[in-house]
Amino acid sequence: MADIEELVVSRRHIKEFSARPVAEEDVVAWLDAATHAPNHRMTQPWEVIFIGPETRAKLNHPADFGHAPLVMAILSKAPENAIERDENLISTACLMQNFSLIAWSHGVGVRWTSIGWRQDIREILGVPEGYDVLVVGVGYPETVPAAKPRTPIAEKLRRLP
Ligand SMILES: Cc1cc2nc3c(=O)[nH]c(=O)nc-3n(C[C@H](O)[C@H](O)[C@H](O)COP(=O)(O)O)c2cc1C
Repeated sequence: MADIEELVVSRRHIKEFSARPVAEEDVVAWLDAATHAPNHRMTQPWEVIFIGPETRAKLNHPADFGHAPLVMAILSKAPENAIERDENLISTACLMQNFSLIAWSHGVGVRWTSIGWRQDIREILGVPEGYDVLVVGVGYPETVPAAKPRTPIAEKLRRLP
């Protein structure tokens, strides 16, 4: 198993996947492990939808999620106020990153999309009112892009007395 720092640094947004299938039970196990994400008041504000071929065709993603063998939606629960929305989304993002890193440790990558913000996509997926949704492709990469350079944190770090 790879070292956590190496996983964090080597993980990439995967645009194109190989045809090699990913076992659904593995993805469930990785998601289960990912639920150990920090979350406010143990609300665990996430839900997951595995998207089957019929629904996937309706989503009509321009790149078909890079031909990912598995497409899923991660939902962040409807909040009661703006602060709770932030807390739900932050917790769900922690789950997503946990999942991405665990998957990556098994050689499996994730393609993020922004289509979850679209109302037509939400309707196709049956996303309940007020939930946020992130749709991702999951699979073994066809190619792994080079890392995009990051701004050194020293340039974004300040100290208070
Ligand atoms: C909230 C969020 C939304 C994203 N949406 C998209 C997207 O719609 N299309 C896309 O190609 N990449 C998307 N990405 C992936 C970023 O483009 C990618 O993470 C960034 O370029 C850094 O590359 P890396 O992840 O390989 O280090 C998204 C990432 C996040 C965190």
